Amino acid sequence: MTGNNIIPHSHTISKIDRNNLTGNSSLVIWFTGLSGSGKSTLADNLEKKLFANGILSYILDGDNIRSGLNKDLDFSDSGRKENIRRIGEVAKLLCDAGVVVLTAFISPFRQDRKDVRDMLGNGEFIEIYVKCDLSECEKRDVKGLYSKARTGEIKDFTGISSPYEEPQNPEFTVDTKKLTIEESINEIYNYLEPKIRIKA
Ligand code: ADX
Repeated sequence: MTGNNIIPHSHTISKIDRNNLTGNSSLVIWFTGLSGSGKSTLADNLEKKLFANGILSYILDGDNIRSGLNKDLDFSDSGRKENIRRIGEVAKLLCDAGVVVLTAFISPFRQDRKDVRDMLGNGEFIEIYVKCDLSECEKRDVKGLYSKARTGEIKDFTGISSPYEEPQNPEFTVDTKKLTIEESINEIYNYLEPKIRIKA
């Protein structure tokens, strides 16, 4: 919106100053995939590994953010779009604060993910496709939601009655049906670590 008398302030200490202070760059590690594919588990385990290696990160997670900041949003296409838009804005703020941000949202729509990518600086958005086919996610049914979706108790459920658009060109893909959590985390960590550490 323009013409609303909002004049953003440019603060003295920049993201780069903060990155130089911590020795880490700011990144948004964006996990996308079906419910039950393993996004939250991977984010949690990646954070543990980053923390153990002296890298500060913060997780934004679907069910948590939808219990607070986004509790007014539903699972319609427009509700999901607004969910991802707000999360993108929060991720951008945390990124500016110098933090490595890990996000775990289904984020089913390509355009919404691209909008977040475009919001951030070059190379700051790293899309990780947590690949796991629907039948395996449904078999796991960790939260019991797939069976509710099948009976129609839950409407607009991703993969059943609402679409999921697979990433076409993600920075990284992990297949959680084939790899153990530890294997996935090691692969992701080895890929990310050189991008996070600022060279002396
Ligand atoms: S997103 O599609 O808008 O990105 P988000 O990641 O925030 O979804 O939330 C997904 C979580 O909400 C799921 O893991 C599940 O626990 C819960 N959930 C409840 N209803 C639905 C639904 N209709 N579709 C998908 N997930 C749902």
